[in-house]
Amino acid sequence: MSGYRDSKIIEDTIYQTYIRFFEIAEGRRRWNLFKDIPWEQSNPEATELLGDFVEQFCGVELYLPDYTAKLMHTLRRSRGRGWFLANWGYEESKHSLTLEKWLIVSGKRTEESVQDFSDVVLEGEWDPPFSEPRQMMIYGMIQELATHVNYKRLRQMALSEGDRALGTALRFIAIDEMAHFGFYRDVVKTYLALDEDNTRADLAFVFKNFAMPAQRIVPGAEERARRMAEVGLYGPREYIKLVKEPIETALGLGSIKQLQRQYLDVEGRPRRFIVPDAPGLATGAGTLVSAEE
Ligand SMILES: [Fe+2]
Ligand SMILES: [Fe+2]
Repeated sequence: MSGYRDSKIIEDTIYQTYIRFFEIAEGRRRWNLFKDIPWEQSNPEATELLGDFVEQFCGVELYLPDYTAKLMHTLRRSRGRGWFLANWGYEESKHSLTLEKWLIVSGKRTEESVQDFSDVVLEGEWDPPFSEPRQMMIYGMIQELATHVNYKRLRQMALSEGDRALGTALRFIAIDEMAHFGFYRDVVKTYLALDEDNTRADLAFVFKNFAMPAQRIVPGAEERARRMAEVGLYGPREYIKLVKEPIETALGLGSIKQLQRQYLDVEGRPRRFIVPDAPGLATGAGTLVSAEE
């Protein structure tokens, strides 16, 4: 299908979004895990539960080679997205190093057990949950905001347990995750402006099938997710209030439930619409492409 979606303007806009993102990253957001975190202020008395949660998040960050390698080759022609992924990979690599360092410095884990955990985690392999690039951008948007919320709330737990090292580390990490969310949100806004109906259909589809990355492959992840919900750190309620609803508002979508009724077919697949030839033509009531086309 040809049309506005495939035109150069979407790539140019995403590239400009990336340059803005990168300028802020370089100018205001860089931090140094060796110098900027008061490691001596970690609290050896912090609970085992805090250690378990940090290890869990560390596990999710460890699939970095899969996250980058499996997406990069699909983005060769999209400089904005490809360069974003390279920068994103650098920042995410710092997150897992920082969390691992805290596990060791705080005495929650030994160097050997961190290495053993990493080996076990990497026996599993992550695969992208969606095949369409636009769906993966939407997935990234939801996932980064959810990750931000997780780290922000974990930071509160760390501070309440008197661990200023982890509190500081998680502040840096949570800010990075928010910036990642901001990039994806702006990309999704671009898609909405240029191809509103198909983007709404993809939003409905991705929200319907969303799960946090690596939830099924990190050993013990389901049990720990249950514990997180139990202690009120993060669970379905936080997902709805702090992730789903803010995204509905940020994108002006109305309710996702309504979107799913309107834009998914009986099998739960996104309905498809003729891509507008020029921006501003999508009105939320585009022409449906029949199944034969
Ligand atoms: Fe991260
Ligand atoms: Fe992130």
